[in-house]
Amino acid sequence: MPPVPTRLRVRESFDRAAASYDDAAIVQRQVCELLLASFNPSTTPDWILDAGCGTGYGIGLLQGRWPAARILAVDFAPAMLAAARRSADLCVAADIEALPCRDASYSTWWSNLTVQWCDPEAVCGEAHRVLRRGGELALSTLGPATFAELREAFSSIDQHRHTLSFSEPEAIAAALRRSGFDDIRLHRQTVSQHYPDLASLLRAVKDIGANSVGDGARSGMLGRRAWQRVQAAYEKYRTSDGLPSRYDVILAYARK
Ligand SMILES: C[S@@+](CC[C@H](N)C(=O)[O-])C[C@H]1O[C@@H](n2cnc3c(N)ncnc32)[C@H](O)[C@@H]1O
Repeated sequence: MPPVPTRLRVRESFDRAAASYDDAAIVQRQVCELLLASFNPSTTPDWILDAGCGTGYGIGLLQGRWPAARILAVDFAPAMLAAARRSADLCVAADIEALPCRDASYSTWWSNLTVQWCDPEAVCGEAHRVLRRGGELALSTLGPATFAELREAFSSIDQHRHTLSFSEPEAIAAALRRSGFDDIRLHRQTVSQHYPDLASLLRAVKDIGANSVGDGARSGMLGRRAWQRVQAAYEKYRTSDGLPSRYDVILAYARK
């Protein structure tokens, strides 16, 4: 499994980003919609746990599709949870690797673009524990081709880590299988977002709170020369839409 960045730093980055998140989270909303579009549970959800709810975009979508369902919003960043409180039925500040929830209490476990920050084995184990028999899981996460252009551009100046290390789809499927899930289905698709320049691309990542990358990150600022070299290296990917940022999206569905 790739290393997971220090929990506290991840939580602080997301907490700081709560105010800027909604304006920057274009890809996150797009992936949330993709996750819901391919989610067809065999029974109508009545209690949904949104694991890593952020400011609550997914909660609105889930309520739109299943208006009678009740939703528990879980996030470990208090400022994110404060925003989600506007739409959720219940909110809990907690780590999704150790949910303060009773066994077998939810019909549906849902998570959009959060599992890449976690240990997939721990998250899937907890999802399985809190779901009722026959309950269904829907999650989206990111695969190893995510931010490939960014890693390539930075490799021209240093060997530091500039992105998270993302799990292969097979590792997600294996974590689900080992946790006891059945009927596991995975879809993989590339989503790209374009930016006018590299500075806006990096600002968008920071505005979402996704800028903690774990051990091996560069600690100091880049010098002017190094920054120019990274920009020049990224320019070779420019299209008529701007500089692309690639997201290798994995959608996973399973049943307990
Ligand atoms: C990229 S945001 C996605 C938010 C939301 N699901 C959406 O679609 O907009 C990831 C969220 O997961 C939360 N998060 C990350 N790791 C977590 C963990 N181990 N336990 C609880 N929340 C976590 C972060 O605080 C952040 O709000």
